[in-house]
Amino acid sequence: MKHILRAQQFDPKFIKLLFDRAESLQELADDQRRHQKLGSLLSGRMMFLMFFEPSTRTRISFSAAGQHLGMQVVTAENARESSSSTKGESLEDTIRVLCEYQPDVIVLRHFEVDAAVRASKVSSVPIINAGDGHGQHPSQALLDLYTIHREMGRTTKLNIALGTDLLHSRTVRSLSYLLGKFEGNHLIFVSPAELRIAPDIKAYLKRRNISFEETENINSALKKADVVYWNRIQKERFTGNFPPQTFVIGSDQLKILKPKAALLNPLPRIDEISEAVDQDSRAAYFRQVGNGMFLRMALIEWVLGLL
Ligand code: NCD
Repeated sequence: MKHILRAQQFDPKFIKLLFDRAESLQELADDQRRHQKLGSLLSGRMMFLMFFEPSTRTRISFSAAGQHLGMQVVTAENARESSSSTKGESLEDTIRVLCEYQPDVIVLRHFEVDAAVRASKVSSVPIINAGDGHGQHPSQALLDLYTIHREMGRTTKLNIALGTDLLHSRTVRSLSYLLGKFEGNHLIFVSPAELRIAPDIKAYLKRRNISFEETENINSALKKADVVYWNRIQKERFTGNFPPQTFVIGSDQLKILKPKAALLNPLPRIDEISEAVDQDSRAAYFRQVGNGMFLRMALIEWVLGLL
């Protein structure tokens, strides 16, 4: 069965297949004459979205992706509060129950690291990890990389600056794993000392001979970067006090950035990028959202064995 659990599971050949398909789905949607075809591709199929943590983009883009392809979509959006997990039901039992309703795929967001892996062990249908605590968010990383591919024309030989809460950001973690699959990339991790990237990522990059550095100097990082990937401080994942956001990209930072750089953010944007940046052509974060829906359509097709 084809689950989507961690970014490490993908290789460049698969990623190319996925990007090509996302691009052709995007073309299909843009072409008025052929648009109807899109809605018949997955008609009769059913997708469940089980979200135990808050979400706007991931939930709605999976839902929109499925519905544009003609699927039926069943959503539980506050599952932590409104499902039987409040009564003490295990995740495994919840998944066993959902499978009895015969979905074709289950998209799961959960507050515990490795929840999707646990779900995949008892599920009779593909599981897509839509974020597991501060673990991973593989579909986001694929759409981030897809955006890099579209903005920069390549996913190799790039200097990528990643900030700001590298310890808790599952999107930074998954994207780092993916970037490590492509030759010649150099990763610049920018964070305060207490929010540095975790050892598992560094060990992986070393194993793959991907060069990286860690810095607290935002300006020197931005100067070198072809791609900047900026994610908020993940306040909900702190038990003590969280540090204030000191790594803000505003108008002054735009002056340092290369003229052809691309600035990405998985969103939500809080205070790590100021709104003044939005009008700059290098700000790619809203285009990133649109790319995400098509990338997720291709992913759904793949887990269903249709790609
Ligand atoms: C991210 C997440 O949930 O990890 N959001 C998303 O899925 N686009 C990033 C975040 O919440 O900061």
